[in-house]
Amino acid sequence: MAKNKKVAIITSGGDAPGMNAVIRAVVRTAIFHNLDVVGVERGYAGLIDNQISPLNLRSVSGIINRGGTILRTVRCEDIQTRTGMEQAIKNIKKNKLDYLVVIGGNGTMHGGWEIHQASGRKVSVIGIPASIDNDVAGTDETVGFDTATNTAVEAIDKIRDTATSHERVFVVEVMGRDRGFLALQVGLASGAEFILVPEVKYDLMKMCSSISSGHKHGKTSYIIVMAEGAGSPQAICDQIHDCTALEVRFSNLGYIQRGGAPTARSRILAEKFGEKAVELIVKGDKARIVGIKDDKIITSSLDYAWKGVKELDQRMFKLAEVLAI
Ligand code: F6P
Repeated sequence: MAKNKKVAIITSGGDAPGMNAVIRAVVRTAIFHNLDVVGVERGYAGLIDNQISPLNLRSVSGIINRGGTILRTVRCEDIQTRTGMEQAIKNIKKNKLDYLVVIGGNGTMHGGWEIHQASGRKVSVIGIPASIDNDVAGTDETVGFDTATNTAVEAIDKIRDTATSHERVFVVEVMGRDRGFLALQVGLASGAEFILVPEVKYDLMKMCSSISSGHKHGKTSYIIVMAEGAGSPQAICDQIHDCTALEVRFSNLGYIQRGGAPTARSRILAEKFGEKAVELIVKGDKARIVGIKDDKIITSSLDYAWKGVKELDQRMFKLAEVLAI
């Protein structure tokens, strides 16, 4: 009888809410298809250190609603070194792993691709995009993005209470690394007056005069959502205060955006991605990433994750401007 394919699941890079739902979906669909499944702890570091153990149906009980990742995660630099990569491949052979399912953002996909290449394409790698930044090409949405959006919107709704009561301008920083997907989504959903993202050049002077003129016409508070990669929050706050003489406060939402129970949307996306990943394994695909495009589950070459271009939806940006008046 032919040996079952052996699949190793890895979560790597920044944790994202819904990673556990992905692990659960992959484990259970894989077992349904008679595949053997193991979990690698602590991302690629665990592959180098051989922290690998079997996963079964019960290992993933009660985790669908949990943030973080039960496999834990590391931003592993050693996988980029020759010795690190050699050790990882040695452990892949030792554990007779046929497939890696790598769950994370661009860095994670890159790591998986490098392993695939360094093994002479013998180790097959399937990527599942999970990141609050939503900056992975080949998918409209990553697992965790919706949850982080909701977390940030809930926080901004509270900040707005203080903004209106005290007649203040609030600059609120959200994550996103060097992209503005999260800021745009959060800004739209929280009714921010301005959204600052790295991809779109903004004119601070113009923004200040619009705030001053709005203030003269009875608008007493402002919420400005800025992406972490969109400039210096302190400089922006100082300039707004200098130009408008209004009270300005800065709030960095920080790591609360990465944690917490995943939303239903993040969980269901996790389930659809997990199922598709296992389908690719059963078919024998070698280096693919799953994604969602116009509500359909799709797949692309794994390297498209970071080589592909993912544009910010400029129409949404324009809409935010119109609605902020
Ligand atoms: O990639 C997710 C992310 O949360 C980014 O938004 C942020 O820039 C970064 O990770 C923070 O990374 P770390 O966990 O290394 O502090």
